[in-house]
Amino acid sequence: MEVKTSLLDNMIGVGDMVLIEPLSEDAFIENLKKRFDHNEIYTYIGSVVISMNPYKSLPIYTAEKVEEYRNRNFYELSPHIYALADESYRSLRDQDKDQCILITGESGAGKTEASKFVMSYVAAVCGKGQEVNKVKEQLLQSNPVLEAFGNAKTVRNDNSSRFGKYMDIEFDFKGDPLGGVISNYLLEKSRVVKQPRGERNFHIFYQLLSGASDDTLKKLKLDRDFSKYNYLSLDSATVNGLDDAGSFRTVRNAMQIVGFMEDEVQSILELVAAVLKLGNIEFKPESRCNGYDESRVKDKNDLKEMCELLGIDQSVLERAFSYRTVEAKMEKMSTTLNVAQAYYARDALAKNLYSRLFSWLVNRINESIKAQTKTHKKVMGVLDIYGFEIFEDNSFEQFIINYCNEKLQQIFIELTLREEQEEYVREGIEWTNIEYFNNAIICDLIENNKNGILAMLDEECLRPGTVTDETFLDKLNTVCAEHQHFESRQSKNSKFLTDHSLPHNCFRIQHYAGKVLYRVEGFVDKNNDLLYRDLSQAMYKAKHGLIKVLFPEGNPAKVNLKRPPTAGFQFKASVGTLMKNLLTKNPNYIRCIKPNDKKAAHIFTDSLVCHQVRYLGLMENVRVRRAGYAFRQAYEPCLERYKMLCKQTWPHWKGPARKGVEVLLTDLQVPAEEFAYGRSKIFIRNPRMLFSLEEKRRQCLENLATLIQKIYRGWKCRTHFLLMKKSQVVVAAWYRRFAQQKKYQNIRSSALVFQSFIRGWKARKLLRELKHKKRCEKAVSTISAYWHGTQVRREYRKFFRADAGKKIYAFTIQRIMQKYFLGLKKTMPSMSPVDKSWPARPYGFLDRTHQELRRIFHLWRCKKYRSQFTEEKKATYKEKLAASELFKDKKALYPSSVGQPFKGDYVEITKNPKYQKLNSFVEDKVLLADMVSKINRANGKGAPRVFLLTKKSLFLADLKTGQVKASVPLPDLSSVSVSTQNDGFFALKIKEGSTSAAKGDFLLSSDRLIEIITKLHCIGATSADKKQLKVDISDEFLVQFKQDKVCVKFIQGTPKNGNGVACKRKNNRLLEVSVPSP
Ligand SMILES: Nc1ncnc2c1ncn2[C@@H]1O[C@H](COP(=O)(O)OP(=O)(O)OP(=O)(O)O)[C@@H](O)[C@H]1O
Ligand SMILES: [Mg+2]
Repeated sequence: MEVKTSLLDNMIGVGDMVLIEPLSEDAFIENLKKRFDHNEIYTYIGSVVISMNPYKSLPIYTAEKVEEYRNRNFYELSPHIYALADESYRSLRDQDKDQCILITGESGAGKTEASKFVMSYVAAVCGKGQEVNKVKEQLLQSNPVLEAFGNAKTVRNDNSSRFGKYMDIEFDFKGDPLGGVISNYLLEKSRVVKQPRGERNFHIFYQLLSGASDDTLKKLKLDRDFSKYNYLSLDSATVNGLDDAGSFRTVRNAMQIVGFMEDEVQSILELVAAVLKLGNIEFKPESRCNGYDESRVKDKNDLKEMCELLGIDQSVLERAFSYRTVEAKMEKMSTTLNVAQAYYARDALAKNLYSRLFSWLVNRINESIKAQTKTHKKVMGVLDIYGFEIFEDNSFEQFIINYCNEKLQQIFIELTLREEQEEYVREGIEWTNIEYFNNAIICDLIENNKNGILAMLDEECLRPGTVTDETFLDKLNTVCAEHQHFESRQSKNSKFLTDHSLPHNCFRIQHYAGKVLYRVEGFVDKNNDLLYRDLSQAMYKAKHGLIKVLFPEGNPAKVNLKRPPTAGFQFKASVGTLMKNLLTKNPNYIRCIKPNDKKAAHIFTDSLVCHQVRYLGLMENVRVRRAGYAFRQAYEPCLERYKMLCKQTWPHWKGPARKGVEVLLTDLQVPAEEFAYGRSKIFIRNPRMLFSLEEKRRQCLENLATLIQKIYRGWKCRTHFLLMKKSQVVVAAWYRRFAQQKKYQNIRSSALVFQSFIRGWKARKLLRELKHKKRCEKAVSTISAYWHGTQVRREYRKFFRADAGKKIYAFTIQRIMQKYFLGLKKTMPSMSPVDKSWPARPYGFLDRTHQELRRIFHLWRCKKYRSQFTEEKKATYKEKLAASELFKDKKALYPSSVGQPFKGDYVEITKNPKYQKLNSFVEDKVLLADMVSKINRANGKGAPRVFLLTKKSLFLADLKTGQVKASVPLPDLSSVSVSTQNDGFFALKIKEGSTSAAKGDFLLSSDRLIEIITKLHCIGATSADKKQLKVDISDEFLVQFKQDKVCVKFIQGTPKNGNGVACKRKNNRLLEVSVPSP
């Protein structure tokens, strides 16, 4: 792609009118035309941009174009609105200068479009981020909303702004947008109720009816058909190229983005619908008895629906259309309204309703887009005010609009022409004055407080008595007749008396842009902008939240009898504020020119353009520009900005700033014709010169940045290096210490190992030597012992035989033993086991053997003795042994029984014929048969009985007859009780519950008690169940005699009558046996 470096490259005509040759109006127009034909719609006059409306979309507003113009110098590329926007934005951001972009031109010249291009460019190049993007989006989206409500199709422009708009965009120090403030100026509200032919009402009405859903329309009680509404003109209801339905969606979407709530949107639409309904209310006259006509609402349906929409009491509104309350001197009077007055009241209400809604909308948008921070803000203002208007029929609105344009022209003149020329003079720059038309005189004609047209109008409106538009014109005719820019047929100025182009009810003003004929009809009313208080009170009473807010004066609590300021007065005041505001900012101009009246592309009507070029004062602009200097700046900031370009001024210049600038420019070898020194400023003739300075500065700044960067990097690296060096020393010191420590530890541990090895070796060596020495000594003594032994043995061998000692010893022992045993054989005791004699021991060392032999001998002697016994004797001895175990040391009778053999049968039972029967009665072998005494329990006397004992039973039989008295099977015996004494009493206890138990126990006495009981006991041992009879030895025991239990007690007593043992019954329970003490 070809890169442009100057607007001069590939230029069509000239891009900057300053360069035009020769400078003439024709050449000027020709240049514009040539460029227009090549779609070059922008042309510069210095820093002013002339914009021709192409009436077609051109591919020059793309994102690529934005990038192309971004951060480029103004004259670097072909003229473009983006170049101006960029210049303005950068100087706002970088030089902290508030900016304003003044867009002027007549209706349809492209002001609104230009303002949108400026805003979108700034939005594209400024900062990004979620919050910033939201702000940008809200700022941009405020346009469609305001255009819908404030723009309308006119004969000159299909999207004509019917209000003036000034928007301040606020930025932070970085150049990021923070928010904005919109001011609106005088909405052309008469359009709400009436539109000139070929024009239509504000867009929103058509958009709502075309674009709203059926449901919404139903809610708003509206019909889609435009023809149903009186306020909508039908002849141009649909406009080619305008998509009302689509626009409605765009507007709703934009409202949402800007931050309107759903219910707010609904309220707004309800108000729009109410205006349409209001237009349909019609009135009819009704005669009253006092002869006056009174108006009545014809068809109440629309009134009803409107009241429902706004929540107004229908009767209140109806009354307000029929009566009017007039207050005079604290008195209230009600007068009737005729039909014309009712229509006037209706329209006034509709106009007020709509214009107040519009102002509310602007305020509401401002609330959304206002900056959230209170920090210092940089401001860029964009002014898009309605263009100069010359219609066939011009009224109050045109007068006001044109006054505003007059003021803007004034500002332009002030800042570009007059101010510039005056500055040259002030600064002492050689200068030939350029003639230009100063419109201050026209402004004065309109706004002069004493005799200006607006002041006259106000005076007339406030004057008591009959006031009409004609009286106002009369007043003008007298006051302004002499003014050279005021023309009227009836003025005293004879010039116009015969001017038939000037009707009687009109006056004409020679504006800077041309002569405009104003018809005075409606001036007074429009200036008064009267809304009957009854209507505003009715509106205030409405339940609809928004409408109440719009009519605060309707609040009966705040009755203000003062007349509200007139429309003209308000407008003048707001224009004054605007002008003051603009003067504080750095101006940037976009002068829009309309190429033709047909709204068509490619048509360039020379006369029309010529007219605009003239009244916009563009030629004068070029002239001043060409004669003057393109750029000026005070010496101080200039030196400050460019001082780096010269060694003497960099970094500090000590002398006066002007001298510094001189040195600087001389050093830079700038040709003398390129600049001039003013008193406080330097003037640079050519922008090119300025750019070359800027370019040098840029390069120098780059070099400086590189230098700073270099120094900084050097410093950073050096500090880093020093730090590294210092760290390295520390690290090295620590490492060396550590290494040395480690080395020392190694050497130390090696030395220790070495030392221990040496010591070990030395110790081992010593040990070895000592051991060797010891062994040697031992060997020496052993050798010497052996040697001595050998010597001795060798010497005494002849005397001793080997082992003689041992043998002698064994022999001696043997002899002793022989002698001992032989002696023992000779002196052996008898074989009687009871013989206790044993020879004395011959040798002490044989003591244990001697005793052991005695024991062995005794055992052997006993064994020999025992082997002589018969089986019978063995049994007898067993019984004796048992008797010993039972009674030895327990019963005194026992020792006497030891010597007596147990014979068993003492009564010769088998032989004695007395006992033959008894013998035959006893089936088993009789083990014992003896006489016993059976003790009578009554007296203790004994009765003799034969006692028989067999293996199974015992029997007691009569001694004489041998008849069995009692037989007891042995298992029935439970125990035998005997005393410890030397008596023969024993009690046989029968087991309770046995068969023998009936007779009770037996208390018997026998001299052979030991034998009897031993035998009874031993039978148990041989019985089948091996249950031996229990023997109780006690001096007191109980005997069961049949029923009674009798205690038998043994006492030691003296013998009586030679009878040893005496048994005596002491009482029922006691038998006392006295046994003689031994
Ligand atoms: N740069 C442009 N490129 C394409 N079309 C343009 C351009 N400028 C203006 N137009 C066309 O001209 C029409 C009128 O422009 P615009 O509404 O900006 O005029 P205006 O100066 O604001 O008029 P008014 O004073 O009536 O508001 C636009 O609707 C658009 O169709
Ligand atoms: Mg506009």
